[in-house]
Amino acid sequence: MSLTASIASNVSELIGHTDLVKINSLSEISGCSILLKCEHQNPGGSIKDRAALQLITDAIESGKLKPGMTIVEGTAGNTGIGLALVAKSLGYKMLVVMPRGQAQEKERMIALHGAELVLVDPCPFANQDHFYHTAKRIGAQEGYWWADQFENLSNYRAHYLHTGPEIWQQTQGNIDALVSVVGTGGTIAGNSHFLSSKQAGFKTWLVDPEGSGIYSFLKDGCYQSTGSSFTEGIGIMRTVENFRQAKINHAITLPDQDLVTISRLVAEHDGILLGSSSSLNVAGALYTAARMGKGKTIVTFSCDLAERSYSKLHNEEFLKERGIELNKENLEKLWACYQQDDEGKVINL
Ligand SMILES: Cc1ncc(COP(=O)(O)O)c(C=O)c1O
Repeated sequence: MSLTASIASNVSELIGHTDLVKINSLSEISGCSILLKCEHQNPGGSIKDRAALQLITDAIESGKLKPGMTIVEGTAGNTGIGLALVAKSLGYKMLVVMPRGQAQEKERMIALHGAELVLVDPCPFANQDHFYHTAKRIGAQEGYWWADQFENLSNYRAHYLHTGPEIWQQTQGNIDALVSVVGTGGTIAGNSHFLSSKQAGFKTWLVDPEGSGIYSFLKDGCYQSTGSSFTEGIGIMRTVENFRQAKINHAITLPDQDLVTISRLVAEHDGILLGSSSSLNVAGALYTAARMGKGKTIVTFSCDLAERSYSKLHNEEFLKERGIELNKENLEKLWACYQQDDEGKVINL
């Protein structure tokens, strides 16, 4: 037997090539193959490592990011962790601007990865103190490079060039639908673009929390948010360049109660612990199975480590305060509910 050396030359090289696992309980009840792309396996623990790597390597290649410069970004957390990790491994300094009130877990990880952390009060996007504008202002100073994950298309390219082709290869081209939440839109855009170019009839389903702005935008053309979901890193109130690249066929919203229910069911039946946006993805995948019918292969993402949702999704007191029941439905009831659901909820684009 010959052994071949397989040693990454730095931690950034460990990003990507994540596994795809079947969620057996949901696949059995729906008659579909519901598959989970394990993005929590990335070294920074989230799907945003991919965007971080592409943003930085493209900027180095184009000459915008030069040795000795500091990378700056405004983020709800995971992109900050990914950028801090890639920055450190490639020898750059990192400054993260983050709104207060995000899970403490993410703040700690950014600091542990050696980045400087600037916390700002959460405020509407129009306010110049918003984390996005604060990062942009700092990034305009001498010696800084602003990653700009919302408008910089390296984010989308990470998924078009890597995640999409991985899914295509792992499913051997046997895939009918993709289900994804939206933060910057990089994930849904890159994957939907690549996979729909490979297969006629391929469908992309967007899932967002109940009352989300994007859903109202896709429905009526204006951003109107009526929800107060506890999910983090998703839900935007403006059309950004990365989201603009997405090829979306259908959009739905689901309440926080559903993502809590599905997270408990999948943990219990399949031994898979999900974070909050991932739970929404998985609930969305089950909903998609109910709409598409038996025999389909549906892929969605485990966007980050469940630990990152410990203080909210996995905190019983927090959930009770928000009126969320911990064991509301069993799988049969949730499935029956999705099968009977009003078709009018789905936006067809
Ligand atoms: C936990 C989590 N899930 C999903 C997303 C959405 O990914 P994207 O920005 O590619 O739309 C993010 C983005 O930050 C995130 O942090």
